[in-house]
Amino acid sequence: MSEPKTNDRMEKIVSLCKRRGFIFQSSEIYGGINGFWDYGPLGAELKRNVKDYWWRCMTQYRDDVVGLEATIIMHPRIWEASGHTSTFSDPMVDCLLSKKRFRADQIDPQSGTAYHYTGASDETTGKQVTENYSVLLPAGKHPDSARKTARQFYQQRGLANATLQGERTEAVSNSTRYNPENGSLLTEARAFNLMFKTYVGPVESAENVAYLRPETAQAIFAQFKNVLEVSRQKVPFGICQIGKAFRNEINPRNFTFRSREFEQMEIEFFIKPDAVAQAGGAPAEDGDVSTPQPNWGWKQWHKHWVEERVKWYESIGLSRDVLDFYWQKPEELAHYAKATVDILFKFPFGTQELEGIAARGDFDLTQHQKFSGKSMEYFDEDAKSKYIPHVIEPSAGVDRLILALICNAYQEEQVTDEKGNTETRIVMKFHPRIAPIKVAVFPLLKNRPELVQKALAVRDLLRPHMTVFYDEAGAIGRRYRRQDEAGTPFGVTIDFDTLGEKPELKETVTLRDRDSMKQERVRIDDLPRILLEKIR
Ligand code: GAP
Repeated sequence: MSEPKTNDRMEKIVSLCKRRGFIFQSSEIYGGINGFWDYGPLGAELKRNVKDYWWRCMTQYRDDVVGLEATIIMHPRIWEASGHTSTFSDPMVDCLLSKKRFRADQIDPQSGTAYHYTGASDETTGKQVTENYSVLLPAGKHPDSARKTARQFYQQRGLANATLQGERTEAVSNSTRYNPENGSLLTEARAFNLMFKTYVGPVESAENVAYLRPETAQAIFAQFKNVLEVSRQKVPFGICQIGKAFRNEINPRNFTFRSREFEQMEIEFFIKPDAVAQAGGAPAEDGDVSTPQPNWGWKQWHKHWVEERVKWYESIGLSRDVLDFYWQKPEELAHYAKATVDILFKFPFGTQELEGIAARGDFDLTQHQKFSGKSMEYFDEDAKSKYIPHVIEPSAGVDRLILALICNAYQEEQVTDEKGNTETRIVMKFHPRIAPIKVAVFPLLKNRPELVQKALAVRDLLRPHMTVFYDEAGAIGRRYRRQDEAGTPFGVTIDFDTLGEKPELKETVTLRDRDSMKQERVRIDDLPRILLEKIR
């Protein structure tokens, strides 16, 4: 079957997310709240599986990374030290007519004729407004449409019967000064700090201002010394954290892609400064980066972590074909970064960032040393020297990853049943490791107590090991389809052979594979082992 067009595809995915309970709009009964999303029963399981697997892979399966769980609200000096209070902003513009707010760098350039006015007057009241205003008309549109928009602008300023003054036209090309939706002039761009502000304690005063963290990373830097002391790690080593982050995005968009509340999975991996690591000689620039070496500098560690993270994405079903990479240009780098590689995913709405892997140098620890007055130096026993460690930071967004996994999993297939009828099968092909439900258990018929009893026993056998969904409602084919949409990789059916109708098949069940739709007969005793091998 031909692939649905990009926007169709995204619309279908958004609709499935709501219909099947992956993602709901937050506060939907009150009309929703822009940039906030809730995860329904399937979404919550999917998200939990992804975070748990990341945590296992990044800490428990390694000797050199330990975990941290810090508070969302921290001392406000942290954000001064990190630079967030002064620089964590986006350029913002407002439409002078509709008051709609845009990110200045996301406005599509417009061309046409600009109609400029020096003001307007109202002859019935004798009132006058001398504020300049402009409207951009695309080629071919009648000038009256610009005049109508300008009159609305002056009406909003108290002139019920506005007569426009000083009309002048100008050819304009590729301008981002006008609202693409109505042609109205926009305000000049102003910096808008993205941090959510709040107050700690009962008094709303300047000294009690605090922020909801815009990234999880800073807590790791602030706790560097404590973690170092208790974990007895030696540089190179990492500290990781999963948790909520908040950004008052000007334009949340593309479903959950850019939200105002989201989760991050971040590692701050501390390494020796190049001068220390490479005192005895530097490795070849294009050398192998698969196995860490004592003389690696930040460039080798940076490339190593990009590879590690790509391998991790592959292990949950995002192949290299659906990923891409972007090396940020020097002028695009954040104030703290020496280099950043973005790992991108090919979303239906465009290829966009999933994770950023930044080489942050010693910026953060140096800043916290300066602002807190506490030493962030590390004594390296091997090198017999003291230094502030440098950092490589793989920083991933959980919600973006969930959206990528959902987009990647969504498939429409044409299938023909045993009666020759063709229908569209919607199937979410999640990797079994992260699928919300691992196995569905079905009695062939719900009105046969012996089948139901056996199916419940199979459910209870599997439940301690994995998420199981028991379903006895409707025809078996419909039950399979429901699980296909939920992305359940395996289905177990208890039929009359299970009960011994054919004695040689007693105590066996059919095991259906979601992707191939093939069924095999397996012994009930073997089910936990067979399934665990496939989902781990
Ligand atoms: N500590 C570095 C840092 O926070 P970032 O590139 O701003 O870097 C890292 O964010 C990741 O967090 C992004 O790659 C993205 O996956 C996720 N992220 C950032 N802003 C987001 C937003 N508004 N909504 C959803 N995810 C977001």
